[in-house]
Amino acid sequence: MKQRSTFGSKLGTLAVVGGSAVGLGNIWKFPYVAGNNGGGAFVIIYIVICFVIALPLMMSEFAIGRSTRSNPIGAVKKLTPQKGWTLMGYASIIASLMILPFYSVIAGWSLEFLKDSLVGGFAGKSAADVALMFEGFVSSGWQPIWWMLGFLVVCCLIVALGIEKGIERYSKVLMPLLVVMLVALAVYSSTLDGFRQSAEFLFKPDFSKIDGPAVVHALGQAFFSMSLGMGSMITYGSYIKKQDKLSTIAGTVAVADVVIALLAGMAIFPAVFSFGISPTSGPDLVFITLPTLFGQMAWGSVISVVFFVLLLFAAMTSVFSMLEVIILYFIEEFHVSRPVASGGAFVIIAGLGILCALSQVPGSSLTVGGQSWFDIFDNLSANIVLPLGGLTTILFAGWVMKKNVLRDQFTENGAYGLKSYSLLKFLIKFVIPVAIAVMFLSLAGLIRW
Ligand code: PHE
Repeated sequence: MKQRSTFGSKLGTLAVVGGSAVGLGNIWKFPYVAGNNGGGAFVIIYIVICFVIALPLMMSEFAIGRSTRSNPIGAVKKLTPQKGWTLMGYASIIASLMILPFYSVIAGWSLEFLKDSLVGGFAGKSAADVALMFEGFVSSGWQPIWWMLGFLVVCCLIVALGIEKGIERYSKVLMPLLVVMLVALAVYSSTLDGFRQSAEFLFKPDFSKIDGPAVVHALGQAFFSMSLGMGSMITYGSYIKKQDKLSTIAGTVAVADVVIALLAGMAIFPAVFSFGISPTSGPDLVFITLPTLFGQMAWGSVISVVFFVLLLFAAMTSVFSMLEVIILYFIEEFHVSRPVASGGAFVIIAGLGILCALSQVPGSSLTVGGQSWFDIFDNLSANIVLPLGGLTTILFAGWVMKKNVLRDQFTENGAYGLKSYSLLKFLIKFVIPVAIAVMFLSLAGLIRW
């Protein structure tokens, strides 16, 4: 049998896994979700969830992937004879198919905005002008579709090159560039008047703003941002070398993911506050509020180009990981070549992406209960599908997988001790499932607090 590939180097592994985690979730979503849910107190709860719930879940996903060296469906089949659990594997394919379309549409928007920034298209425009530009673009139907397709073609071509020669090679370039650009933006933002106000907004907790829905949003955001509950980390886990410490990789990625989300907040909010805009301006923050501000700032067009390139790179490396879930499944379960699997994935996602993009044209009939497919995919994936995927995965790791398999994975076959192993096991078996379940009950309105 042909030897299965692994990541080439440790740094490469961190770039790839970190690349999956750091994405639109950090830069587009986190600032407005934190803004809408009250700022500081939300951030604290978010950080606790990232380390107490998401981090052990990430390690468990890695363990499932690495112990079987398989795609999520193959992995479950290898780990238990109980057929029902393979549903968990299929759910991960469905989740990828839900997130990829709207995610690629947003990546397409950043290409359009990058083009506008390059020609200085925001200079001197009012928020109403930019809103009109944005709405005109989104409702034009085909324009966002071309950008989305272009973005998707490039991503599929890179993934078609393979793990080491495609995903890893490109992530090793894109991720450091992303970090440099984000730090540069945050440094620039620290010179703006609204900097202090942003720091207070993001870091000064006001717990009266925290209620059940805020906690559910924090959980959904943490799963989305750390790419959990949908097989991406199982898939990437299957490429991690056997001597590389899962705890170190997951810990580093969790810290990086949180730090980058906060940096993104600190890069974005100062401009927002300096211009007296409310931090709760929602998903439009990045595509209406920010471009307006860029158009009025010194160096605005340079900053705006950097920002949209950053957004694009962040989206690309995350899309690699979602594509890989589908592509590896096609390769291993249907025995097709990687290029064929990539082509197949492209066709399916392009179709769903077109559906999403068209559903946003005003008056479109592509809606369910008044919601566009775009919003349905977005809300359903973060608030239901990923937490549900996370719940089943953690139950699987804690109660179904053989104890020694999990222990061997967490200690690299005994090569390293893991002092916190019993704590981790306790979290995985009891604390995390109960916490996620409680959040579901609260989402369903069965518990209120
Ligand atoms: N983590 C990515 C982000 O923050 C999104 C993602 C979700 C990627 C699920 C892979 C799997 O944008």
